[in-house]
Parts: sequence; structure tokens; C-alpha cells
Amino acid sequence: APVTVGVDIGGTKVLAGVVDTDGAVVRTARRTTPGRRVRVREVEDALVEAVLEAAGDDPLGAVGIAAAGFVDSAGERVMFAPHLPWQGEPLRDLLEARLGCPVVLDNDANCAARAEAHHGAARGAASALMITMGTGIGGALLLGDRVLRGANGMAGEFGHMQVVPDGRACECGRSGCWEQYSSGNALVRDARALMAEQPSVLEEMSGGADRVTGPMVTAAAEQGDLVARAAFASVGDWLGIGTANLVAALDPELVVVGGGVISAGDRLLGPARAALQRSLVGGAHRVVPELVAARLGPQSGMVGAALLAAQLRR
Ligand code: BGC
Ligand code: NA
Ligand code: ZN
Repeated sequence: APVTVGVDIGGTKVLAGVVDTDGAVVRTARRTTPGRRVRVREVEDALVEAVLEAAGDDPLGAVGIAAAGFVDSAGERVMFAPHLPWQGEPLRDLLEARLGCPVVLDNDANCAARAEAHHGAARGAASALMITMGTGIGGALLLGDRVLRGANGMAGEFGHMQVVPDGRACECGRSGCWEQYSSGNALVRDARALMAEQPSVLEEMSGGADRVTGPMVTAAAEQGDLVARAAFASVGDWLGIGTANLVAALDPELVVVGGGVISAGDRLLGPARAALQRSLVGGAHRVVPELVAARLGPQSGMVGAALLAAQLRR
């Protein structure tokens, strides 16, 4: 029978999966995202390959794409993407033509939020913030199981709130953005900087600071490495500070954290909870929302994209 496939495409990897009607992941396939300066066609190729591998011998029923970028209100184009080469790319139509089935497109964090609302940590919450920590920071505001879209379809770009005036340069072209201090990229960057100052198992694990990856920092922190732990402490602290600002603005019932970096669990969320408690205005006079890990872990974007695609088939 024709299958529904969800694909999450971020700045680092492409994860595709066949997802059944209960939201369960049946089979996955992954690819590395071709670098930021490649041609658009190569990124599309990686997407198509991952979808076809996940589907295997089964025909495609519908495909949902969770894209790390600014998707237009119509769900047709990626207008801008800090970590990918898309600018106004009519991705939906291009992929429909190549895959020969209906395709639906949304922002990756919006997809993650939808999956967590239906099958995960945000189920039953009247309002929830979704924050995804991958190459950058993605975001969404859930009102029940609906995602706030905004006038351009671009609500929830929390990663590019400026938290440090004249701070670190961001891939979006501006500077001091939150995701430069709290994200998978920030984790790696912090670990590299600390490696220059003190010994670390990351040296041997990676074969050199410039080859360190996020999963390596997570593994090193597990082993008690002080450099890796300090990097998590910093990224977690910044996660809590940014979250406090969002909670001050929106007063959600719950905050769900997903994306690749959430594999580190409380190593990330521990310092983030402390910083949220410390930084939130009126903290002593309100219920501070719980900060929890996405129940679908790093797969919520992919599952959420499949949920959208399944709606096309009804
Ligand atoms: C992009 C978002 C995306 C996030 C996570 C950010 O840099 O602006 O659109 O959701 O990264 O991938
Ligand atoms: Na979003
Ligand atoms: Zn930015």
C-alpha cells in the first residue's frame, strides 16, 4: 500500500521516515545535508534520495517536508534559510514533479510542534512553546494543536532574536542572534574554544578541534569531560535565558525542547531550567512552566511532516 513519508531537512542532516497512521516510525533513511554553498539541486537530490530509500519498494502516497527555513504562508516556497541555499525556492512543486506524489511543506520547528501536540509532550496543553536545538534554533507557538503562523507564515523564528548587541555573526546575515549562543553549532563552537585552553578527550575523539561534531561533545560529556560539560553548561544557560524572554512575552503552559541536541537530555535541560527560574520576570509570583524534552526526541520534525502529509491523503 502507498506509504506516507516525513522528511526533516536541517543544516546538518536529512532524516526521512515512513510513518504510520498512529504516528509510529516504521523505517528511516538519512543523508548528510550538502554544505551551505552548494547548488540548490544537490540539496534537492539528497532529499529525494532519502525519501526513496525510506519508502523502499512501497509506492509513495504523500510526502511532508520539514524544512529548516522561512516557509511562505501558502506552503509552496522556502523564502529564506540561514543554513541552506534556498531563496524563494518553489520546493513543493519541484518535489511533487520529482516524486510523483502530493507534497506538503512547512518549517521544521512547526512540524516538530505539531507532532509533539498530537503524539508527544505537548498533548493536552492549552498553550506550549516548541524550541528545536539543531544546527540553529527553531521555534513555534502552539495554541492547543494549532501552530501560530503570523502574517508571512514566519512566526516562531526565535533563533534570530538578538540577545547580544554586536555579538557573534549569524548565518542569517545579522549578529548576536540567540542561536549563536545556544544550538548545536554553538555547542561545537564553545567546545572548540575551550579545547584551546585545556585538555579534553575530544582531542583524540575527533582528531582535531576543527573536526569536532555535536554528537562527539555529547559523548565526551557523558564520559565526564570538563570541556564538553562546560560547553553544555553554557549552551543550556543561554537556552534558559532566551526561554525566559519568550515565557515573559507569551506565558505558555509548557516548553518543549527538541532537535538533535536534545539527545543530551538533562545535560542540556538542567542548566536551562536553572537559568529560566533565575531569569524569568516575576518568577516568585507565578507558575514557571515546565521545560521538558520532546517525547519524540530528535524525530519530532520528521513525524510532524508526515502528519501534515497524511492530511493530504484524507
Ligand atoms: C532557521 C529556522 C529553523 C531553525 C532550526 C533557524 O536558523 O531560521 O527556520 O527552524 O534554524 O533548524
Ligand atoms: Na517556526
Ligand atoms: Zn540570525
